[in-house]
Amino acid sequence: MSKKPVVIYGASGYTGRLVAEAMRHYQIPFIAAGRNGPRVEEAMKLVPGIETAEYEVAEVNHDLESLVELFSGAEVVCNTVGPMWYYAPLVVEACARAGAHYLDSTGEATFVDEVGQQFGDQFAAAGKVLSPSTAYMFTVLEIAAHIVLETPGIDSLEAICSPTGTPTFGSTQTIFSTFESADKAFYLENNQRVYWPPAVGYETVLPDRPRALYSHAWSGGTLPLYFEKDPRIINCRQTTAFTSRELMEQVTEMQKMYERDLKPLPEKERKAKLAAIGEQMQPGMPPRENRLVHRNVDVVHGRGSTHAVSCTIRSVNPYQLTGILHAAAANYLIGGRHFASGAVSICQAVGYQELLGQLQNFGLAQVETN
Ligand SMILES: NC(=O)c1ccc[n+]([C@@H]2O[C@H](COP(=O)([O-])OP(=O)(O)OC[C@H]3O[C@@H](n4cnc5c(N)ncnc54)[C@H](OP(=O)(O)O)[C@@H]3O)[C@@H](O)[C@H]2O)c1
Repeated sequence: MSKKPVVIYGASGYTGRLVAEAMRHYQIPFIAAGRNGPRVEEAMKLVPGIETAEYEVAEVNHDLESLVELFSGAEVVCNTVGPMWYYAPLVVEACARAGAHYLDSTGEATFVDEVGQQFGDQFAAAGKVLSPSTAYMFTVLEIAAHIVLETPGIDSLEAICSPTGTPTFGSTQTIFSTFESADKAFYLENNQRVYWPPAVGYETVLPDRPRALYSHAWSGGTLPLYFEKDPRIINCRQTTAFTSRELMEQVTEMQKMYERDLKPLPEKERKAKLAAIGEQMQPGMPPRENRLVHRNVDVVHGRGSTHAVSCTIRSVNPYQLTGILHAAAANYLIGGRHFASGAVSICQAVGYQELLGQLQNFGLAQVETN
C-alpha cells in the first residue's frame, strides 16, 4: 500500500525519470515503481537533484493484484509504461480499483477512446480523473485549441503537432503499435467521425518553415475525441509532423508494409514482428534533451464562417515538458483543484490556462495568436 501521494509506474524509463525530476520541483513525495527494482534504483540516481526528493523505490509485477496493492493509498498514478495500447488497460483498471487518479503519456488516441468508454464512468463515480495522454504531443495542442476557442464562433479546428528530434525507444514502439488500431483513428467532419485512410502522408505547411513538412494522422490525436461532444465544434482534424521528413516518410512506408504484409498475420506473430522493427529503428536510450535542439511547434488554425484565428505554441524539451505536465497536474489533483472527473483530458480536468502557466514557469512554452 502506497504511503506517498504519487506512484510513477515505469520510473526506469526515459519519461518516467523526467516525471520523477518534475515531482521534485513540486516537492511531491512519490514512489518510483517498475518491474525491475534495481533498474529503477539506478535510473533514479541519474535524476538531477534527486538527493532532495522524497521518494521510495518499489518493484512490482505487471499484474492486476500487484498493481492494485501498490496503488492503494496513492492519490495519483503517473503511468509511463508503454506502448499504452499493450500495457496500460491493466494499469487503468488497477487505478480504478485502488481509487486513484490516472495520468499517462499516451500517444495512441485510439487507446484513450477505448479506456474512456470502458472505465470513464467508474472514475467519474469516484470523483477521479482518467486523463491519459497528459503529454507533449496532445496536451500542448489542446491548450492551443482552447486559446483559439476563446474567440466566439470558431467551429472548425485544424491542428498540427510538429516536434523536432528522434522518438525514444518507447515512443518508437508506440508508433508501430498505432498501426494495429489505425482503422479506428478518426477526425470530425460535420459532427461525424470520419476514419483516416491508413498509411497516407500529407504535405503540411507550418510557421517558421519555408519547406513543407510531411504529416501523419498518428492514430487521430485526442482533439477530435475531447471536442466530439463540445457544441462549439463541427470539424476537428489533428495530424503530427516530426520535422524530420525522412522519419515521417519512413513511418508512412512502414505502415504500408504493415497493411500489406503484417496485418494478415496471427496476432502474436504480428506483434512480435512489429516490436522487432521498432527496435531496429531506435534501440537505445536517447541523451538528455537540449533546448537548442529539441524545439516543438504546435499550431491550431480555427475557422468560423467569416473569421479565423490561429494559435502557435513554440516549446522546447518535449519529454521534460511531459514530466512537468504530470507533476503540475498531480499537484492540482492532490489539492482537489479539479473541476471535472471521469474520462477527460487534463486540460478539461484542471484548466488549460493553469497548465500553460506552469509550462511558462519553467520557460518551456510561448504562445502567439493571430
Ligand atoms: N505522446 C507523447 O507526447 C509522449 C511523450 C512521452 C512518452 N510517451 C509514451 O510514453 C511511453 C514511455 O516512453 P519512454 O520514452 O519513457 O520509453 P522507455 O524509456 O522505453 O520506458 C518504458 C518503460 O516501460 C517499462 N516497461 C516496458 N515494458 C514493460 C512491461 N512489459 N511491463 C512493465 N514495464 C514495462 C520499462 O521498464 P524497464 O526499464 O524495466 O524495461 C520502462 O520503465 C511510450 O509509450 C511513449 O510513446 C508519449
